[in-house]
Amino acid sequence: MLSSRRNFFRTLGVGAATTAAAHWPFAEFARATPFEPARTQDAHGAVRLNSNENPYGPPPQTMAVIRSAIASANRYPFMDYEPLGQKIADFHHVKPEQVVFGCGSSEILRVAAFAFLGPGKRLIQPSPTFEAMDHYAHGVGAEVISVPLTKTFAHDLEAMLSHADGSGGLIYICNPNNPTASLTPRQHLETLISKLPASYYVLIDEAYHHFAGESGMYKSFIDQPVPDERVIVSRTFSKIYGMAGLRLGYSIATPATAKRLETLLTSDGVNGIVSKAAMAALDDSDSVRLFVKRNADTRQEFFNQATARMVKPIDSHTNFVMMNTYHPAEEIIEKFHKQNVLIGRRFPPMDTYIRVSLGTPEEMKAFWQAWDTLHLDMPMGH
Ligand SMILES: Cc1ncc(COP(=O)(O)O)c(C=O)c1O
Repeated sequence: MLSSRRNFFRTLGVGAATTAAAHWPFAEFARATPFEPARTQDAHGAVRLNSNENPYGPPPQTMAVIRSAIASANRYPFMDYEPLGQKIADFHHVKPEQVVFGCGSSEILRVAAFAFLGPGKRLIQPSPTFEAMDHYAHGVGAEVISVPLTKTFAHDLEAMLSHADGSGGLIYICNPNNPTASLTPRQHLETLISKLPASYYVLIDEAYHHFAGESGMYKSFIDQPVPDERVIVSRTFSKIYGMAGLRLGYSIATPATAKRLETLLTSDGVNGIVSKAAMAALDDSDSVRLFVKRNADTRQEFFNQATARMVKPIDSHTNFVMMNTYHPAEEIIEKFHKQNVLIGRRFPPMDTYIRVSLGTPEEMKAFWQAWDTLHLDMPMGH
């Protein structure tokens, strides 16, 4: 805890430390909250703001379980599956038959593509969005229709619905959306589902659920389900729970739909370490609240820093921010890379936007230091 703060001040130099304590808003927060050392730095010391991870890693209780679970690395994990499924079911007040878990929520997306797509079927997705579903849809020979987001960066649900014809398929909803960090209103999603032709399923990807907060626009389809066989909701342990490297995601659907997905999973595809760690993580609601708070504070500070530089990011409901640089994104990404700051990849067609994951206060400071070296011209009043 102390070492992290000490490093932060060291990077500023001793003389700057007092000034930073006075002006840098995180000084207050750092005093109030126990900071574990950030675990994002790789062997080359890069600041990793490119994959929307939790920069603090799993909280202490979960770490303790991870450490002790390694001792049973010689065992196949299947005996953990029943308690894990029950735990997730209890957590969401659903039946265990409704829960399917996989190697990251990416596996859930993959099995949904295998179950509901194929030659002659159609994936309808927003654009830009998280690309995994597009990838799997192409892999199984489905047609992919990408529908541009609206001016407010919501899914254009009417346009998406207008493509839902032919022999059926899958609609992919990413809410909040990656990479734009934006929300699509709950009510509009309900309307989409109520009008959907019988031959279409909907996968609602809630990977960033915890960061969406109390917005009146947002309500999880797990917390407040709609009674429809065709709705699948996915979540992940990679974001708020800080376990992207351990790989666990899950979905909630009706028992019949869950069964269709389950038959396509890799057998024993979820490892025994994350199975145990996830159960501990679900018990630790205090850490979830702490991470949400840290993220909200870091996000607010990001917007403050952006405003001071006349930059106006898209309103963020996640642990990352997207903003228009008015310059080719690949050039900006490369310039950051040269300074050892990794930011998100290109997201066509938003070719001048960059996506920045929210890291620790120290990492965000490194981001803005690198930004300031670029001397980008921003249009007035954009
Ligand atoms: C929207 C969205 N869905 C799913 C995933 C996949 O996450 P994982 O496979 O780690 O659960 C990601 C990863 O960044 C994501 O952004």
